Amino acid sequence: MRVVPLGERFAAEVLDLDLTRPPTAAEHDAVVDAVDRYAVLVLRDQRISAEQQTAWLSGFGPLDSEVQRYFNRLAANRLGSDVVTDISNVDARSDVAARLDRQTIMNIGNAFWHSDGSHYHHPFRYSMLAAVAVPALGGETEFADLRAAHDRLDARTRGFLSARTGAFWSAYNRIRLGIIDPPQTHGLYPPVEWPLIRRHPGSGRDVLWVGQPLCQVSGLSVPEGRALASDLLEQATERENVHVHRWAAGDVVLWDNRSVLHRGRRFDLAHRRELRRVGTKDDVASLGVLDMPSRTDLNDGFPLRLRGAPEPLRT
Ligand code: OGA
Ligand code: MN
Repeated sequence: MRVVPLGERFAAEVLDLDLTRPPTAAEHDAVVDAVDRYAVLVLRDQRISAEQQTAWLSGFGPLDSEVQRYFNRLAANRLGSDVVTDISNVDARSDVAARLDRQTIMNIGNAFWHSDGSHYHHPFRYSMLAAVAVPALGGETEFADLRAAHDRLDARTRGFLSARTGAFWSAYNRIRLGIIDPPQTHGLYPPVEWPLIRRHPGSGRDVLWVGQPLCQVSGLSVPEGRALASDLLEQATERENVHVHRWAAGDVVLWDNRSVLHRGRRFDLAHRRELRRVGTKDDVASLGVLDMPSRTDLNDGFPLRLRGAPEPLRT
């Protein structure tokens, strides 16, 4: 296996790795090292089945099924799997989905900067996308390096943020999409609270933990926290901090959700865009409700504490 950097800062192409069979121990370790360092790994000309993709990634940790089971309740999909997510604008009959089809809207939701699972109590560690069909124009996936975003903060802001947590809320994204959830689903995914600066256990690097679902900052009023979140996200996603992946069918991209944000770019929804996603669950966080440990304890996984919805704004 060979690793060739794609940009000056992060992202690399992996050559001579066969994804059609589970990784050997040496391949496993080499991939973990590479993704710790480069955060985004690209493999080309991989025509793997959903089963091969699943089998390969399961060598890297328990696969997430909760998100997919949740999606399965919202929209019928063709794949019939609890672990493979249909990242496409294709409906259950295998036709290009209507613009207001749930399947289409869920994928438009991916156009806002996020880290998979940051707004659920069971975040993802790795996500692996395999491209089956892609439009000729648009539909790129972009990645922003949260480690560089941290390193570029001035010392004062870094100090300010290191003592604070942020609430990440799925409903905040859904409101943005114009989705009005029925009241019975409100308690399903309450906001999740994470430290805003975290240390990645593999690279030892600190990351600035932001994204579109960030809707409240501890110690600040809701409006002030949202203005800060917007500012931080803008800085983290400056173009020089972004790697753009232009898809070809057969491409596979593996990324570490602890190190990068990502988003899908717009494309003509009349054209078919079909990718499959499999993700591993991060540990610690999947244990459920925890008290926020001291800063030095944040070295593995994503400790968290759940609480109710952000306080309503009173005027
Ligand atoms: C994802 C995702 C973006 C894209 O699969 O988790 O956010 O470009 N995808 O489809
Ligand atoms: Mn995503």
